[in-house]
Amino acid sequence: MTIYQHVALASRPKGWPTLENFRYEDKELPEMGAGQVTLRTIWLSLDPYMRGRMNDAKSYADPVPIGGTMEGGAICEVIASNNDKFAVGDIVVGRTGWATHGIADGADIRKVDPNAAPLSTYLGVLGMPGMTAWIGLNEIGKMKEGETVLISAATGAVGGLAGQLAKAKGCKVIGVAGGAEKCSFAVDELGFDACLDHKAAKDGRELGAQIKEAAPQGVDVYFENVGGKTLEAVLPNMNMFGRIAICGMIAWYNGDNVAEAAPLPAVWSTILTNRLTVQGFLFPDHQDSAAAFFKEVAPMMAAGKIKFRESVAEGLENAPEAFLELLNGDNFGKQLVRVGEDPKG
Ligand SMILES: NC(=O)c1ccc[n+]([C@@H]2O[C@H](COP(=O)([O-])OP(=O)(O)OC[C@H]3O[C@@H](n4cnc5c(N)ncnc54)[C@H](OP(=O)(O)O)[C@@H]3O)[C@@H](O)[C@H]2O)c1
Repeated sequence: MTIYQHVALASRPKGWPTLENFRYEDKELPEMGAGQVTLRTIWLSLDPYMRGRMNDAKSYADPVPIGGTMEGGAICEVIASNNDKFAVGDIVVGRTGWATHGIADGADIRKVDPNAAPLSTYLGVLGMPGMTAWIGLNEIGKMKEGETVLISAATGAVGGLAGQLAKAKGCKVIGVAGGAEKCSFAVDELGFDACLDHKAAKDGRELGAQIKEAAPQGVDVYFENVGGKTLEAVLPNMNMFGRIAICGMIAWYNGDNVAEAAPLPAVWSTILTNRLTVQGFLFPDHQDSAAAFFKEVAPMMAAGKIKFRESVAEGLENAPEAFLELLNGDNFGKQLVRVGEDPKG
């Protein structure tokens, strides 16, 4: 019998989650069946979507059951294999969730090259968030050279790469981020043309005036990550035939900040009069884009042209606290948990 550790959903939050909603505990690893592999988690990815999985509400994915393991993507080492396609020692991206070990079918995991890039980046710029940035800009936002692109949560896992890809395409890129340090990083390190601090603006109107000053020519593509007062600020700055790629709305995930929302009649009217295209998108629907994404981003990464930051929590037991920090904007770059040691050799 093998015992491993996981973080279970202990109860469903009402509003903001707390540490009491999670339980770190031992669990028995099931027997590995035919075609399956046993995984040891090295890195766990923490992502805003996990907040939605804590609710018992209809969504694009099922909720985590009470007592079930919190879901999540991870970088893992294969430590036992009943599958010809995976050998012991292979490094894979899998969905073990918030757990030190897991059993997976071969179809649920994908090998990565540990020598091509730091392992953790397969959960960040070379993983789901990076690909989300690429999809949002290219397939949904349809950015074109010379256009103005505005990106909220600009220094985050998605936003940080989105800004660099838009700059590489020849766009003018404006970021919105929380705090002076994040804004300086966006401009000085990531190459944004300007970055505005949403925390320093008293409301959407003030932030909107700052956007107008930074982008007097208007915004062609808004990469929407947050909703809240940032959306209220961006809308009046949208250009005719502009595009809004709705990637996320983290300001509203805990049910607050709704008073900051632009009134629906104003939103509708702006969409109509400015002939905007507004489209939500979800990463799992766009797996066909993986080849185009890697073709563009892998060489940039190999050439050292992609900059990124990571916030790392040490130990699976600290995942709940790190997740609460992510929801609060206390992360700076991709939020990760180091669950296990790097493979030897
Ligand atoms: N559609 C998809 O398939 C898909 C895939 C991945 C991610 N997403 C979404 O993309 C967004 C970014 O995800 P990520 O993984 O890159 O996370 P992230 O940006 O690394 O972290 C979340 C950031 O959101 C910002 N934030 C939190 N509360 C806010 C508020 N009230 N107002 C404004 N900003 C707030 C904070 O940045 P500041 O300190 O700068 O405010 C925080 O650091 C999320 O909405 C996520 O749900 C969607």
